[in-house]
Amino acid sequence: MQRWMRKKTHFPLLAFFFSVFVVASVLYIENTHQIQEQKEAATTHSLFPTSVSFSSHKIKKRDLGSLDWSKACITTRNYTTHEEWISSTPKSNQQKLNQGSCDVFSGSWVFDNVSHPLYNEADCPYMSDQLACLKHGRPDSTYQKRRWQPHNCNLKRWNAIEMLEKLRGKRLMFVGDSLNRGQWISMICLLQSVIPDGKKSITPNAALTIFRAEEYNATVEFYWAPLLVESNSDDPVNHRLDDRIIAPDSVLKHASEWAKADILIFNTYLWWRQGKIKLLATDEDGVCEELDGLGAMKFALEAWADWVASNVNPFEKRVFFVTMSPTHLWNREWEPGSVGNCFNEQTPIDMEGYWGSGSDIPTMRVVDNVLSTLKSKVSVLNITQLSEYRKDGHPSIYRKFWETLSPNQLLNPVSYSDCIHWCLPGVPDVWNELIFHFL
Ligand SMILES: *[C@@H]1O[C@H](CO)[C@@H](O)[C@H](O)[C@H]1NC(C)=O
Ligand SMILES: *[C@@H]1O[C@H](CO)[C@@H](O)[C@H](O)[C@H]1NC(C)=O
Ligand SMILES: *[C@@H]1O[C@H](CO)[C@@H](O)[C@H](O)[C@H]1NC(C)=O
Ligand SMILES: *[C@@H]1O[C@H](CO)[C@@H](O)[C@H](O)[C@H]1NC(C)=O
Repeated sequence: MQRWMRKKTHFPLLAFFFSVFVVASVLYIENTHQIQEQKEAATTHSLFPTSVSFSSHKIKKRDLGSLDWSKACITTRNYTTHEEWISSTPKSNQQKLNQGSCDVFSGSWVFDNVSHPLYNEADCPYMSDQLACLKHGRPDSTYQKRRWQPHNCNLKRWNAIEMLEKLRGKRLMFVGDSLNRGQWISMICLLQSVIPDGKKSITPNAALTIFRAEEYNATVEFYWAPLLVESNSDDPVNHRLDDRIIAPDSVLKHASEWAKADILIFNTYLWWRQGKIKLLATDEDGVCEELDGLGAMKFALEAWADWVASNVNPFEKRVFFVTMSPTHLWNREWEPGSVGNCFNEQTPIDMEGYWGSGSDIPTMRVVDNVLSTLKSKVSVLNITQLSEYRKDGHPSIYRKFWETLSPNQLLNPVSYSDCIHWCLPGVPDVWNELIFHFL
């Protein structure tokens, strides 16, 4: 980073490296954060938990068992069997979560301090220090008081008891990365206030964390699988690695947990945007092929879709896929000429249809195409556009940072602002209101 600065690199290149740096450091912070949380849980018993068979790639489904990922690739070569990855015209026969003519994903944010926030940050014992922005000094709270208003209809009004009734006797499982974990925390914060003490509990368990609502015999769970398929990043604590290796066709280990859930909410996105990804060698030779993140993501989504296609009966299981969560790393995108990011942003973007560079359109096309093959088996929770407006919704510097910040960083808040995750209460609450709306 420093070296690039001194060399007076062209701005776009610098910008690229800076954004990679920001994403990498935030993902790193998340990692150390989890370790810290585990340590805390161990010492203080804190309430927060410690935390398709793809035709062109002929490999069999296998149980990776106790594979040592660090020795999985002896050498690496470029992925060669290139094909047309991305069709620019998505097939549009996937299930659209529209009610009649109303698209609930198209609308605007309105100030509403009467109905929002739906819970108080300080009242939720499961809140994460990564997302508790007021606790960490955020001076404004208007970001908590915005309601999503679709253009042509109203969202069903959130009701925790009604949601718990829908979950009675069921397992609701969130599966994905830290953005999905934020949505899971939002969900348990939204629900927990109506459950008396002693009738709710949380069970930390490495990859799977389970919140129980006893009286409803219901669970709301989070399963860590940032790349969906099996990978060397599946350890919920130790996933800060120099390179990412995925088993492009294998979801076996993860899916044994997914199979037990009644309602599944998947996401995957940012982890595919940190450079090249290796595909686990298929033969004993240890030669791993390597390709760009989007190509690798397509393999993973195909494997996931293959599992959904053969294991999900839509009358028994409900599956949602949450689209890309936008980042706000460059304020020049909404305010030309400025140099900063989401830091100090207090109002949403009011430009209808605003779309920043953090939401990758080719990725959306891949998701469109994969989901279109699953038709009614998966409901798309298309949160990208509505979240794009919320440049004010990120923690920026108002969260716990688990690594020590240097004096230079502290002098320049923009340099360490988290413009990826979301404060709670906040934007992910609305993603859950949408789940409630459609369940
Ligand atoms: C792999 O592809 C990259 C470009 O993406 C190229 O720079 C590199 O030389 C290639 N390596 C081999 C071994 O072909
Ligand atoms: C809501 O906001 C308005 C305008 O800022 C203010 O006058 C009012 O007191 C607020 N009401 C609540 C319940 O906070
Ligand atoms: C509780 O829910 C599980 C499914 O999550 C079900 O198998 C079990 O029978 C239920 N128990 C009771 C007492 O209803
Ligand atoms: C989500 O909505 C965007 C427009 O906001 C659209 O371009 C995209 O195709 C939609 N994606 C899916 C998977 O429905």
